[in-house]
Amino acid sequence: MTAPLASIENVTVLYGGVLRAVDSVSFAIHPGETLGLVGESGSGKTTVSKLILGLLRPTEGRVLFDGRDVHALPAGERRWFRRQAQMIFQDPVSSLSPRLTIRTLLEEPLRIHGLPLKEHWPRMRELMDAIGIKEALLDKHPHQVSGGQARRVGIARALVLNPRLVVADEPTAGLDVSIQGDLLNLMHDLQGRFGLTYLLVSHNLSVVRTVTDEVAVMYLGRLVEHGPTRTVFARPAHPYTRALIAANPVIDPERLHPRATIAGEIPSPTALPPGCRFQTRCPKAQPRCREQDPALVPVAGPDRLGQSAACHFPNDAPERP
Ligand SMILES: Nc1ncnc2c1ncn2[C@@H]1O[C@H](COP(=O)(O)OP(=O)(O)O)[C@@H](O)[C@H]1O
Ligand code: SF4
Ligand SMILES: [Mg+2]
Repeated sequence: MTAPLASIENVTVLYGGVLRAVDSVSFAIHPGETLGLVGESGSGKTTVSKLILGLLRPTEGRVLFDGRDVHALPAGERRWFRRQAQMIFQDPVSSLSPRLTIRTLLEEPLRIHGLPLKEHWPRMRELMDAIGIKEALLDKHPHQVSGGQARRVGIARALVLNPRLVVADEPTAGLDVSIQGDLLNLMHDLQGRFGLTYLLVSHNLSVVRTVTDEVAVMYLGRLVEHGPTRTVFARPAHPYTRALIAANPVIDPERLHPRATIAGEIPSPTALPPGCRFQTRCPKAQPRCREQDPALVPVAGPDRLGQSAACHFPNDAPERP
């Protein structure tokens, strides 16, 4: 097994000293792979994305990139790290300044990081060719182009500094299915071409199932299941993962809420239930679940290599198709 490119180790994030948004979470992303991060709204996915990018300092635990603690880097290496890890924003039109042209948006990161002026255009050109952005678009503003094109600009801006790690938070949300497919194919091509490693945050389990190597499932700040995507989808061990798969929000993640089919509401992270965090909604809850908080441990059995779950009574039956 190769060394991870990025990892978080026993990370806890307390907002305002009380809201436990992420609680003792550890995982690693290996070079060239895609890790999918799933879970309902409020489970801590965006907080984890910010942690991996070094944008948020954990209350406890460490964030590592290439084996180095990103919050203990000397100034020069911090700059290096900022180029290595980039974000593709969910909504490029509102996250990119509307006053800037697409040309400026693509060039700005190169300028900020002080790349020699004569390298700017060749690098922009290379990405525009790889991503399919026509030169005629360069003097337009992001809101003047189609949704699919705006996403491409967002991707190009994220890749222009030649990063190794790319975090994408719902990169295809709100797009037509055919354009979603185009973008995911494009991201896959770019991954091979530029040697990228992805953290993909998504509500859309069919997307995650298709394009990720590993999947991590979060619930109320905890990692409740983690493992190779094929294994987890074929034999989800945690009742929450099973419920998410059963809810299977296809097509438009904004309109289909998995909550609709998972009984009850997600509790507030400021009033966590005792024992297992999922016990208030779990169809399999037993008295023990209200007393003991289950640890994330490897799932026993053949064909479960690399799969772990945080449940006292993990499932061992295969998912029905
Ligand atoms: N800056 C913040 N200050 C206080 N609470 C926050 C902040 N950001 C997120 N939260 C809370 O932390 C929890 C996790 O949020 P988030 O990481 O955005 O989850 P997700 O992306 O899965 O929806 C939620 O309860 C959210 O309300
Ligand atoms: S520990 Fe109990 S309540 Fe929690 S997920 Fe497992 S069966 Fe459900
Ligand atoms: Mg989020």
